[in-house]
Amino acid sequence: MADTDIKKGLAGVVADVTAISKVNPDTNSLLYRGYPVQELAATQPFDAVAYLLWHGELPTDEQLAAQRAEGRQYRALAPEVKTAIDQLPLDCHPMDELRTAVSAIGAIDLAGKGSVLDAVGTVEENRARSLHLFAALPSIVAYGQRRRQHLEPIAPREELDYSSNFLWMTFGEEPDPVVVDAFNRSMILYAEHSFNASTFTARVITSTLSDLYSAVVGAIGALKGPLHGGANEAVLHIFDEIGSADNVVPWLDDALASKRKIMGFGHRVYKRGDSRVPTMKAALDTLIDFYDRPDVLDLYSTLEAEFVGRKGIYPNLDYPSGPAYNLMGFDTLTFTPLFVAARITGWTAHILEQQASNALIRPLSAYDGPDERHINGYRPDT
Ligand code: CMC
Repeated sequence: MADTDIKKGLAGVVADVTAISKVNPDTNSLLYRGYPVQELAATQPFDAVAYLLWHGELPTDEQLAAQRAEGRQYRALAPEVKTAIDQLPLDCHPMDELRTAVSAIGAIDLAGKGSVLDAVGTVEENRARSLHLFAALPSIVAYGQRRRQHLEPIAPREELDYSSNFLWMTFGEEPDPVVVDAFNRSMILYAEHSFNASTFTARVITSTLSDLYSAVVGAIGALKGPLHGGANEAVLHIFDEIGSADNVVPWLDDALASKRKIMGFGHRVYKRGDSRVPTMKAALDTLIDFYDRPDVLDLYSTLEAEFVGRKGIYPNLDYPSGPAYNLMGFDTLTFTPLFVAARITGWTAHILEQQASNALIRPLSAYDGPDERHINGYRPDT
């Protein structure tokens, strides 16, 4: 195989078709099931977008009410899941905690299901498992943040919508509508993005006829990396390093001289700006006003202008979402778990799609190791 046939990092490779979302870097647009993501973020609650990704259409009021009623039963964590979390060191990364909790939910749900041949489940069973994880993830994230802060867990509230309940369980206060709206928008923007690394991981695992929980656990592992979802956490680390806007230039001089990647900038697909950034930046602006933190805007804008000016590489969604989650009061290490809570919708929609028209994903490799050789003195028996 010629080197030119190899697409390192699968860059530019179209691996399959999907009806779930369309990314168009030329027009800077992102559609979920045909709807521009900006329109969905401005008009829909996050759970209606979850329904859209799973079913292909926005829900009627009755369909959304039925999904909410079914999902509420999964909000409270099973005692075994809490125990699994409680066994972990307090200073383990929340992504490791979340990965373990999802694995525990899967082990409990699949207990007694028999052999590996029975674990995969029907499409209908997997829809229910998707809703289970969608509803349980906020409880896991909130439980984890409070555990690390030595605070008592807060029970979910039935009457609250997804975002209000998430914020309530994390902070124990009725959230302001400004914060709820910004959070809801962030969840919708993070929900789905075609064949990104974690979604592709989920599809690869599903293609072996493994179960949905295994696919999600693998996807969480892929998302943790700072080149992917871990970037929203990493943005806050660089903000902390820089400190204030007047330190941007010397910090960037040093960072670029030592060939550091600047987290929250660049994208494999978008080369002229990430379609999701303007909407998330507008949400960040409302939070900056709400919390009266012009210093955050100053640092954000100065670093953006300086880096884009020097390298022509634009911010991605993690750049505005990191500081937005920080203003809301989430721990920095909890930002990527928030991404998981959103992306569970896209992952599971892709798992269902992969299951419906499966082909084992198994690419080839070109070999450039040693030529065939033999162990000294080895004689085959026959
Ligand atoms: N800081 C500094 N240089 C960069 C950056 C950056 N953030 N992004 C790209 N470059 C440079 C890179 O060094 C390379 O330069 P050269 O050709 O001189 O070696 C060139 O641009 C091409 O970069 P690449 O890494 O080969 O391109 P890619 O398409 O594989 O990278 C990326 C995409 C996201 C991995 C990369 O832009 C990156 O590492 N960004 C920082 C991490 C980040 O923000 N990730 C979040 C991605 S988007 C949302 C998500 O998945 O969560």
